[in-house]
Amino acid sequence: MDKNVAFGLEDDDPSSDQIVNYDPVNTKGLTLTQPVVLIGMMGAGKSAIGRMIAQELDLPFMDADHEIEKAAALTIPEIFEKYGEDHFRYGERKVIARLLRSQIHILATGGGAFMNEETRQTIAKNAISIWFKADFDILWERVSRKSHRPLLHTPDPQGTLKKLIEDRYPVYEEADIIVDCDDVSKEDMRDRVIDALRNHLAQ
Ligand code: S3P
Repeated sequence: MDKNVAFGLEDDDPSSDQIVNYDPVNTKGLTLTQPVVLIGMMGAGKSAIGRMIAQELDLPFMDADHEIEKAAALTIPEIFEKYGEDHFRYGERKVIARLLRSQIHILATGGGAFMNEETRQTIAKNAISIWFKADFDILWERVSRKSHRPLLHTPDPQGTLKKLIEDRYPVYEEADIIVDCDDVSKEDMRDRVIDALRNHLAQ
């Protein structure tokens, strides 16, 4: 099967690390010249807080997982089940590259996106990345309430989550900005991320 077809992508999809020169966007005292990409583990709050950040900054919000599902016309568990994780990662890379070429916006990505070398390069070249850093207890408390994450469908989901944290955190460290997600309210987390972005842009 042609992989592009399943994700609704054109054959002539431009190269994934293409740098886009956007006109700067001024909002709430910030000047952005690139999209802002939220990375971090499942359960870190990238989508929920990302939406609130976008609203506060009057910017569009996109959720990469949601866009992948739309492009494939399948849910993420269905993509994993039908085509496997590699195929999902392929679509994820393509969709994120497309979104980063579209406009300055806040983009929440799935937990594994930044682990893919090419996706990481694309993000490094075309966006400001922010890692939502959370410890195991916070993540487990949140992800154990939901069942839509295929990577945790294992006999020992706690062990799997711990292993993912171990493997991924050294790579997430490469993000431009790191924000700790303690057990704060969503509003506090939103403000914390915006402050960190402001400090980064002032450097
Ligand atoms: C994944 C995280 C999920 C989703 C997919 C794989 C991962 O997104 O992309 O299930 O590899 O950690 P969230 O981080 O939004 O849960």
